[in-house]
Amino acid sequence: MTTIVSNPLKGKHIVLGLTGGIACYKAAELCRSLIRQEATVQVVMTDSACQFMTPVTMQALSGNTVYANQWDARIHNNMAHIELSRAAHAILIAPCSTDFIAKLAHGHCDDLLSALCVARPAQVPLLIAPAMNVEMWQKPATQRNIRQLIDDNVRILGPGEGDQACGEVGLGRMLEPDQLIAEMLAAFTPKSLAGKRVLITAGPTFEPIDPVRGLTNLSSGKMGYAIAQAAYEAGADVQLISGPTALNTPYGCIRHQVQTAQQMHDAVFDRISKQDIFISVAAVADWRITNVSKQKLKKNTGDDFPKLTFEQNPDILAEVAALSRPPYCVGFAAESENLIKYSTIKRLKKNIPLLVGNIAQNTFGLNQNEIVLFDDKGHHSLPLADKTNLARQLIIEISHRI
Ligand code: PMT
Repeated sequence: MTTIVSNPLKGKHIVLGLTGGIACYKAAELCRSLIRQEATVQVVMTDSACQFMTPVTMQALSGNTVYANQWDARIHNNMAHIELSRAAHAILIAPCSTDFIAKLAHGHCDDLLSALCVARPAQVPLLIAPAMNVEMWQKPATQRNIRQLIDDNVRILGPGEGDQACGEVGLGRMLEPDQLIAEMLAAFTPKSLAGKRVLITAGPTFEPIDPVRGLTNLSSGKMGYAIAQAAYEAGADVQLISGPTALNTPYGCIRHQVQTAQQMHDAVFDRISKQDIFISVAAVADWRITNVSKQKLKKNTGDDFPKLTFEQNPDILAEVAALSRPPYCVGFAAESENLIKYSTIKRLKKNIPLLVGNIAQNTFGLNQNEIVLFDDKGHHSLPLADKTNLARQLIIEISHRI
């Protein structure tokens, strides 16, 4: 039985709180990104936030009335802190200033935003994205308040490190909108892989011919990176071994960059003994060139073409599956024909419990895919969908089997 999963943020009503700080400019993009994820957004701003960003901008972006005043009579019973917090699936304060952190830690409620945080029902999670100068972040009082908030079950997102608007450098930057979206997606995903360590290979490998040329394939890494993101959302500790791709490291995952199949093999075996699950999504070159030229090959006239000789690359997945105590192994097979027959044979040959088959022409480099899962019980399809969505479905399938 296949579980259809939708985007975890779809239909969620998020109260987005803005407090005073230059990072308010990022809240505009964050608001749009939440809406792109099919959430609805209710913006609430403090007086200080209104110095950095106008409610008009946030109202235009969210499509909802922005509230900034505890005594706003537009809420019918004049109890905005109650009404707004009861309607929320989560409250996200981004940016969250030093002062607002202090208020939250001490339960103050002398403005609308702090009052609705204190008034929120127990099941409504509160997430904050601190944003402040590095010295303000490091002050013992701020750190004391942060520890208090962690004890109170408030989720602290970030802060990031780097250049600050004030010209100083260090911890205190608000996370970027796409990082906060990744955190919000994770916050609404059941933790089906909590405590599990997952190693994933993704992308193509590149086998050199000379210093500038090589053999590779059309894998973009999209499928493997989406699975890494979905595993993180599900609570796993994720490491990604990636061939050359143009993609950003999925938020929350550790990425190790490799080029050749042998490097991918070595990177996998450096880590495999500590893994619970191994998902081999990479399109690994089966052969490598033995007579790699140290210098760039020259173009000769006539038919004097370079003569390349090959040898077999290690089969990483088969070697992992053959370990005396292997992690739970998931393989992939991209076939251009006879998907059912070839995938069935490949799973048995590699001796793995789960194999994901896909049609090569319909997946390499594309955003969507259609996959067939093969295990001891037979096979079943997950229909055409975005790779992000398929990855989430696959993680659920894996979590049911381990
Ligand atoms: O990256 P995208 O553009 O999103 O495309 C996704 C994908 C097509 C790369 C992915 O969905 C996929 O199908 N990956 C496997 C590609 C493939 O054809 O693998 P294979 O049939 O050569 O190998 C079978 C399995 O053994 C794979 O799990 C592979 O990672 C593994 N293998 C193969 C050879 C080798 N030397 N070592 C391996 O570990």
